[in-house]
Amino acid sequence: MSVAKKDYKRITTRTLIDMKANGEKISMLTSYDFTMAKIVDSAGVDVILVGDSASNVMAGHETTLPITLDQMIYHASSVVRAANRALVVVDLPFGSYQSDPKEALRSSIRIMKESGGHAVKLEGGSEIKDSIKKILNAGIPVMGHLGLTPQSIYKFGTYTVRAKEDAEAEKLMEDAKMLERIGCFAVVLEKIPAQLAQKVAESISIPVIGIGAGGGVDGQVLVIHDMLGMNNEFSPRFLRRYMDLYDGMTKAIGQYVDDVKSKDFPNEKEQY
Ligand code: KIV
Repeated sequence: MSVAKKDYKRITTRTLIDMKANGEKISMLTSYDFTMAKIVDSAGVDVILVGDSASNVMAGHETTLPITLDQMIYHASSVVRAANRALVVVDLPFGSYQSDPKEALRSSIRIMKESGGHAVKLEGGSEIKDSIKKILNAGIPVMGHLGLTPQSIYKFGTYTVRAKEDAEAEKLMEDAKMLERIGCFAVVLEKIPAQLAQKVAESISIPVIGIGAGGGVDGQVLVIHDMLGMNNEFSPRFLRRYMDLYDGMTKAIGQYVDDVKSKDFPNEKEQY
């Protein structure tokens, strides 16, 4: 289904808040390199997330923990060079903000200065409130991230749905309200019950972007490699695959190998 999209020249944190107020859903996708970000930006995606999922999909690590601040800055600066319209949000990687607010601010300043990103994202609620306040006080926009927070995978022990129990759901709601109160411009809710996510979205005025959080929130985010079907080993229920690039690319590359071996490539027109 085709939907009318407003013609925004450049998406800002203010645009996103206005979109929520006007009932316009927000589209967000990850990117980690220039070429992909150029396509994502041209296609009209509102927010590009330079996610620490780069640790998985770009570097092949099992978790998001190993990626470093320097590596995130490298990915983010490539994306920023490609984005003419989208807001670029950059994940603070594991170990770059958890120890104290000063470190969190130092890491955020490095991201803003060295990559040119427009905002940072951090995982967690009340535990990192002081760090978020410190970053916000320096004029750096912050997106929160609650629910399944992959940097804490060794504490959770599993990637299953979070906040199914009342106590965890109540804490999540309190954390979301706190993030709004202290000045975050948006919050990601990952892999929580759709009903709870909708309740959170209705309780706060900043946009709630969901991944595996149902359709009752203000926008959606997916990892680009997953939605393009570049990875055929990851099939959570929340994922909609818009292409089967793994199959398409494997066939194309296999054809190239055959053409080289059979001396079909290059032909007379493909040489000087
Ligand atoms: O790193 C990432 O890609 C993310 C999204 C899954 C929200 O944080």
